Amino acid sequence: MTEKLYLYPIWLRIWHAINALMFLVLLVTGVSLQYSNIDFPLIRFDYAVTYHNIAGIILSINYLIFVLGNLTTGNARFYKLKIKGLFQSLMKQANYYMFGTFKGEETPFPVNADRKFNPLQKVAYVVTMYVFIPIMIITGLALLFPETIVENVFNLSGIYLTALLHGIVSIMLLLFLVIHLYFSTMGKTPISNFKSIVNGYHEAHD
Ligand code: HEM
Repeated sequence: MTEKLYLYPIWLRIWHAINALMFLVLLVTGVSLQYSNIDFPLIRFDYAVTYHNIAGIILSINYLIFVLGNLTTGNARFYKLKIKGLFQSLMKQANYYMFGTFKGEETPFPVNADRKFNPLQKVAYVVTMYVFIPIMIITGLALLFPETIVENVFNLSGIYLTALLHGIVSIMLLLFLVIHLYFSTMGKTPISNFKSIVNGYHEAHD
């Protein structure tokens, strides 16, 4: 029997869709800005700058929906980390992902109305949404208004350091996305979770 839980309210799905789309635009234009040169522009430089700026602003405004939505609905409860026993539960989940799942074992932290994420997922989402994305937004805005950046830090250009941090965290986010997509395929069927983030209903394992 397939039990269906309504875990992704409409505001969250709209946030997620805009976030994912803008993220992809930022990724493609960002890679182009970083690596293209005059003889081989992946995307024409001025276009890449414009689309990167527009997508960055939309993602930043959209981020407010994520924070406000979490503050005003029950969704924030799924992100609360309990430090006590965290390491053990992370190991348990990692062990399941590395071995248990391939032996057909039951997931150690099944999804229910009070637990949407397993411990690894929760840590990944908290770090991504409350550390990485804010760093990207702050450094991105600073680079958009470079006059706000301190000129020199220990003899290094403030703009260079801001761009460096923006670039390093973008790689962490790309890594997050790859892992996010892989683990999203581990639902009841490989496409169950993708359907959930579109129609709102989580499909529980039998
Ligand atoms: C092409 C892009 C993406 C696809 C196909 C995708 C897919 C999914 C799927 C299937 C889920 C539901 C499964 C789950 O609860 O984990 C989900 C949830 C989530 N995704 Fe993504 N995702 C994408 C991009 C992103 C990006 C770029 C971020 C953040 C930087 C992100 C952050 C999240 C978060 C925080 C949740 C949980 C939301 C909640 O239920 O509170 N996703 N995503």
